[in-house]
Amino acid sequence: MASLKSKTLFLTVSLAAVMAATACSPGGQPTTETAKASEPAQPPAPTMAETTDPLILQARDFLEPIPTEVPAIEGVTSTPELVKLGQSLFFDPRLSASHSISCASCHYPGLGGADNSPFSAGFHGARGGRNSPTVYNAVFSFVQFWDGRAKDLVEQAGGPLVNPVEMASPQAHVTEQILALPGYTPMFADAFPGEMDPVTLENAQMAIAGFEATLITPNAPFDQFLRGDANALTADEKAGLGLFIDTGCIACHSGVNLGGTMYQKFGVFSDPDPKYRPPEDKGRGGITGNAADDYFFKVPTLRNIVETAPYFHSGSEPDLKKAVAVMADVQTGQTLTPEEIDQLTAFLGSLTGDQPELTIPQLPLSDAKSPLPEK
Ligand code: HEC
Ligand code: HEC
Repeated sequence: MASLKSKTLFLTVSLAAVMAATACSPGGQPTTETAKASEPAQPPAPTMAETTDPLILQARDFLEPIPTEVPAIEGVTSTPELVKLGQSLFFDPRLSASHSISCASCHYPGLGGADNSPFSAGFHGARGGRNSPTVYNAVFSFVQFWDGRAKDLVEQAGGPLVNPVEMASPQAHVTEQILALPGYTPMFADAFPGEMDPVTLENAQMAIAGFEATLITPNAPFDQFLRGDANALTADEKAGLGLFIDTGCIACHSGVNLGGTMYQKFGVFSDPDPKYRPPEDKGRGGITGNAADDYFFKVPTLRNIVETAPYFHSGSEPDLKKAVAVMADVQTGQTLTPEEIDQLTAFLGSLTGDQPELTIPQLPLSDAKSPLPEK
């Protein structure tokens, strides 16, 4: 372990280099913005045990465990009725023009909240240009989408319903469709008590967001370790965590989600292969129109990462070890040994937490007057 120590010293220097490089990156302003949604609604339980373990203490400087309580979302009053409505809408394919695609099609609960496909098949099999990110723990991220174009889950939920390559419903169609499924009206009334006309697109978005906030995955071995159980990680996983810190991954992959707290350029030290970073997708730059933001993306969460291949916004790398090697290369300017990549990957495996236990809800049934799918 003596060699690890001297290496740690060396790598601490590289970490400083990554920090400096990322701090100077043009357009990297939001680095100081904190993840507002990560403020837990209740004091997180169980508590962080006192410890003298140096690795735990070092990790606590950058990383936080997933709270075991469902976090609050600004502007949404979460009740069991609201969550139930949101869950039904999330699973209901009839909200899409073709009646064949629901949120769950591309954010499948049994597949880590994603779909294991480079690009998801949407309306009539159309494929968008980006990999579907997991909805698990999305509530802890500071903005939504790879390019951050939705400020929170409520705003995000409006996107896919009307997006022509996703669910393709015209805006009015969504509420008409819901109103034409009579069983939904009392569910909206229960979720939004006291409202005259509760069936609105905005309320549908709030309910979906309230449901998504329940999709958290606490108690990963890494969370147990952070809370003070030094035996929760294997020797390889601990070595990987050490590398994660010393190589500088934590400069960007920090906070509850090991990601989701900032935008960063994909390609800090060198340009990634165009298969990983196709030139036409400018990321954040496509939203702001500012060339300094080109190829900046939201740093994605690494929670449950072993479940959500393929990797990158381009969905272009099926092998997690290769994705780790690409990151070390283009984001930190380092070439890691195969053993180091194995250890880092082992550490990433310790980020898999308790998966949400979901039952597929009984949805309000269509009746003779309900519209049929568009051809
Ligand atoms: C056809 C596949 C598809 C469908 C249907 C779909 N999504 Fe997505 N979702 C995606 C893709 C692809 C992205 C990333 C797009 C981007 O960043 O530009 C995404 C992004 C998201 C994100 C942002 C996650 C993050 O970390 O940035 C959330 C949350 C989400 N979708 C929830 C939903 C909800 C809720 C629905 C249903 C109303 C839905 N999605 C329907 C494919 C889909
Ligand atoms: C300078 C910031 C930065 C550093 C340092 C960094 N990353 Fe990343 N990471 C990102 C960004 C940005 C992306 C999204 C790239 C894309 O697809 O556009 C990403 C993506 C990833 C992904 C793919 C996630 C997914 O869901 O597709 C993995 C895995 C990953 N990083 C691991 C690491 C590891 C391990 C290290 C350290 C060796 C590291 N990263 C260092 C910013 C960084």
